[in-house]
Amino acid sequence: MSNRMWGGRFAEGPDAIMEEINASIDYDRKLYQQDIAGSKAHVHMLAAQGIVSADDAETIAKGLDTILSEIEAGTFTFSRALEDIHMNIEARLADLIGDAAGRLHTARSRNDQVATDFRLWVRDTMDTLDHQLHDLQMALAEKAEAHAGAVMPGFTHLQSAQPVTFGHHMLAYVEMLARDRGRFSDARKRMNECPLGSAALAGTSFPIDREATATALGFDRPTANSLDAVADRDFVLEALAAASITAVHLSRLAEEIVLWCSAQFGFVKLSDKFTTGSSIMPQKRNPDAAELVRAKTGRISGALVGLLTVMKGLPLAYSKDMQEDKEQAFDALSNLSLAIAAMTGMVGDMEPDVTRLKKAAGSGYSTATDLADWLVRVLGVPFRRAHHITGSIVGIASAKGIELHKVSLEEMRQVEAGITEDVYSVLSVDKSIKSRTSYGGTAPANVRKQARHWLKQLEKEAAGH
Ligand code: ARG
Repeated sequence: MSNRMWGGRFAEGPDAIMEEINASIDYDRKLYQQDIAGSKAHVHMLAAQGIVSADDAETIAKGLDTILSEIEAGTFTFSRALEDIHMNIEARLADLIGDAAGRLHTARSRNDQVATDFRLWVRDTMDTLDHQLHDLQMALAEKAEAHAGAVMPGFTHLQSAQPVTFGHHMLAYVEMLARDRGRFSDARKRMNECPLGSAALAGTSFPIDREATATALGFDRPTANSLDAVADRDFVLEALAAASITAVHLSRLAEEIVLWCSAQFGFVKLSDKFTTGSSIMPQKRNPDAAELVRAKTGRISGALVGLLTVMKGLPLAYSKDMQEDKEQAFDALSNLSLAIAAMTGMVGDMEPDVTRLKKAAGSGYSTATDLADWLVRVLGVPFRRAHHITGSIVGIASAKGIELHKVSLEEMRQVEAGITEDVYSVLSVDKSIKSRTSYGGTAPANVRKQARHWLKQLEKEAAGH
């Protein structure tokens, strides 16, 4: 049997393989709400413009409501032969209300329909992600305030560099996530235009009101070029790009958590809720949630590269290639959502071992820069020479297997005669972090202030949600 939606010029139905490669219903059924909302907005506009009768519009809208409840109740039968969500819904509408159903598709094509549905889905999903990222920022900022002064080693090259505070480290991620949210919200502003009414590619001869459908669906305005509206998927690409960067940020934090909760680091303890045991090794507490957050980055950035590759080289306007825009985007954005939820849970429950962090902060000659700075400040030595002197003193400590503040004054004076007892005042990790008062630096007072600033800001946003 030829297709009941477009089979007019076809004598035969499709090959089974054709049906399999062509059908998108297995995944695009996810768009049912958006599709029904779009159709209702469209038919109300058609009636208001006198393109369909008020009676037909009413019957169609009621039929669409029935379909919505059938899908939500799980009683709707999806058919592969009907290809996609748009035709499944329209065919069911015809079963329910008869001939009037055929008027819904006036002045519309599946091309503007799918572009509209997918924009709505991406927009709503980005809004959910924004709320989730807000909650993760909140969890991080709360940890930051609680541990604003908890000293820990700061690393470069994963080698002890200079002491920082645990709160400072948490706030670094709050900043990254703020930029991630900014990228989603920039993308939202650009994409919030309604393709509906662009029809197949050229617009329509019917006297439609595109402002009306755009407003009804919460868009800022209709898209200005019908070809562009049905042919571009940059709105998904932007969402996936923002998602990929967010996933990379989550992955870096996840990686740190994996390191930190190992016996060798022992910097933090994860809760039972976000760890698993081993079936063979009874002592194990594995950070599976963190590992999976780290791994999700693969499919998320994969979806971005996948869609970039699909779109590259497609001539205007619609090509069926573009049906491949959805499945990976659904997968990527819902997995990002899951990763953010898991990370929020982990961070909320995570307890830093402040004693161990402090001990680790003092190892690896992490206050060597403070010693060099002291030579500059107190003795007026140029920084490059101070660096050299300090290096020699670290060499003495290292040869003896002792920490920097355990090197005797005589030994230091053999390297630089001007050094006085006062030098010891900068060699402790606490002194070191307290001295980093430059804007954005790790001094506990700074960190506390920044954490409070963020908490206030995030609470204000929550009140507006
Ligand atoms: N399922 C299709 C998609 O997702 C809908 C658009 C079909 N348009 C067409 N001209 N065949 O892209």
